Amino acid sequence: MIYEKHYVWSILLRLYHWSLVSSIVTLAITGFYINSPWTLTTLEGTGLYPMLTMRNIHGLAGYLFTSAILVRLFLLLFGNRHERILDMLPVTSRNIRNMSTTLCSYSYLHDCHDEERLGHNVVAGMIYVLTIIAALFQMASGFYLRLPENVFWQKWGVMLFGTQQHARFEHHLLMWYFIIFALIHIYLVIWNDLKNPDGITSSIFTGNKFRPRNIK
Ligand code: HEM
Ligand code: HEM
Repeated sequence: MIYEKHYVWSILLRLYHWSLVSSIVTLAITGFYINSPWTLTTLEGTGLYPMLTMRNIHGLAGYLFTSAILVRLFLLLFGNRHERILDMLPVTSRNIRNMSTTLCSYSYLHDCHDEERLGHNVVAGMIYVLTIIAALFQMASGFYLRLPENVFWQKWGVMLFGTQQHARFEHHLLMWYFIIFALIHIYLVIWNDLKNPDGITSSIFTGNKFRPRNIK
């Protein structure tokens, strides 16, 4: 079987992905610290100010996270055909077929793979869209916590979360969505790479995937 290389993920999508990964890892570590600092409080005031440093790093990573999500929203509408939202949701017969094929192969009901498809499988696509919605709530609660006096974030914060304490609690809970998502995601990327010949893992670095030459 001869395979052909196809350019699937633009540089913007790959930058989005790795900015998301690096910002979420940083936000989770600093977030855990903000919630329960693991350094002795005696360090505070000794000129080290660990909590201030963690909050500042959290704020910076929050801006990287936000710009990454804004880029992805742009690509959902104006990206290439594999990056657009219509290719990620079960809204066409082609996508509905792919969703049932993927669910069957993920549940080991049968061993087939949609070789024609280059973009995300629709099960992954739906979860990625859900992850973007979760990110929008994380941004809204985060900016409500960071800029409580800002009229725009206050209006949205009160409407979506109520008090700041509720926003903080839901902000903390949402962190677990991203942690559990990342663990399952990495497992499924490796699983797909072992099962199927399209080179999924390297695609998020190079942008290329592989497909048998006879499939158009
Ligand atoms: C996936 C992304 C994010 C995760 C996992 C995350 C996680 C956390 C966690 C665990 C806390 C501590 C909450 C607590 O007290 O228990 C926190 C606090 C906070 N986060 Fe995030 N966060 C994320 C995104 C953001 C964004 C986008 C912003 C916006 C700039 C932001 C701003 C804040 C602020 C201002 C606080 C309160 C810090 C304080 O106590 O003064 N976060 N975050
Ligand atoms: C915190 C950790 C991670 C997060 C939050 C994350 C998030 C995401 C998201 C949201 C997408 C969808 C991109 C889109 O919207 O089109 C994606 C795709 C992808 N990610 Fe990750 N990722 C993480 C770690 C990794 C790691 C460590 C790898 C391994 C190399 C990886 C490999 C991939 C691949 C190959 C795709 C494309 C999958 C496909 O073709 O369907 N990710 N990731």
